[in-house]
Amino acid sequence: MKIFVTGGAGFIGSHLTERLVQEGHTVHIFDNLHRNAIKYSDILNHPSVTFTQGDILDKDSLKKAMEGNEIVFHMAAIAGVSNYYNFPAKTLKVNLIGTYNVLECMVELGIKRMFDMSTSETFGTDAVEVDEESYQRIGPPQDKRWCYAGSKIGGEQLIFRYAEEYGWDATVIRPFNIYGPRQIGEGAIANFCKNVLDGKNLRIEGSGMALRSWCYITDFIEALIAILNKPHKGPECFNLGNPWAIASTVSLGEEVLRAAKGIDAIELKSTIDFVPMDFTEIRVRYPKVNKLRDMYGWQPKVNLADGVYNTLKWFHDSYEKN
Ligand SMILES: NC(=O)c1ccc[n+]([C@@H]2O[C@H](COP(=O)([O-])OP(=O)(O)OC[C@H]3O[C@@H](n4cnc5c(N)ncnc54)[C@H](O)[C@@H]3O)[C@@H](O)[C@H]2O)c1
Repeated sequence: MKIFVTGGAGFIGSHLTERLVQEGHTVHIFDNLHRNAIKYSDILNHPSVTFTQGDILDKDSLKKAMEGNEIVFHMAAIAGVSNYYNFPAKTLKVNLIGTYNVLECMVELGIKRMFDMSTSETFGTDAVEVDEESYQRIGPPQDKRWCYAGSKIGGEQLIFRYAEEYGWDATVIRPFNIYGPRQIGEGAIANFCKNVLDGKNLRIEGSGMALRSWCYITDFIEALIAILNKPHKGPECFNLGNPWAIASTVSLGEEVLRAAKGIDAIELKSTIDFVPMDFTEIRVRYPKVNKLRDMYGWQPKVNLADGVYNTLKWFHDSYEKN
């Protein structure tokens, strides 16, 4: 199949591209290189991969690049907590208007299958065993924290309504804390790994007792491929995370320190520092993934210790600070 990936130069998009090519697909990446994780992969040299540098807010160049493709994976977005506070209007604009542009281009080009990356943040501050029927809940508009989740909820609504109206097979994915090699943007595991390698202490904001589930990138990509290989009808949403790898921020930090002790080349100097939290805390967030298991037989395989070790090893061996 001919597959178009917005945000394909990012952390998840670069892993997805590698896997799609392995499966025999051709991939056209469209990315403005706001982040550039794909520079750590040689996949751009593969004959089945094309790259266009462009912005999803520029509908004309988006449509020109999308033409001739059969499936769209829409991964381009402004993500990362600091961006919600520093660039809230831009976050809304890229995530809402960019998504609208993707859908309009699909209508104009007659493309009828798509995947969208939403977010687990759409479930708000206390998301315990949330499933696909759970209510989405964000805080008041005075709090910038919710601009990202709000933009993704808007995106989900757009996708469901377009898919119903135009008869598309559309899949909305809500990732729950995905991590692994090439996560060069924000993310607790990536931040902890960078601190360890810089000999700095791990910085934990707030109590350190906030709970998240941690899904390793290969498990995440397996789920996308399973859905790709067995289409469903109409719009569907899936919560995608690893509820067997739940950890508090403190235990996550301890896991990274443990992994560092297992890598001879790392001279461990770091310990954990607690600092006050100056943004809205999400106390707990982990999903139920029964729908994915029942429809696709998906089950995550990578435990937290192995995943953290692989990630730290990658940062040690490959990450270039710039
Ligand atoms: N990694 C996670 O744990 C996680 C969790 C929830 C949701 N998501 C969602 O999954 C998707 C991929 O996330 P990721 O972790 O790979 O993030 P990422 O930042 O590594 O990738 C996003 C990509 O989008 C590109 N991009 C940003 N603005 C753009 C624009 N205006 N036009 C074109 N390209 C643009 C960036 O350059 C980047 O390559 C995003 O939609 C994100 O919101 C990720």
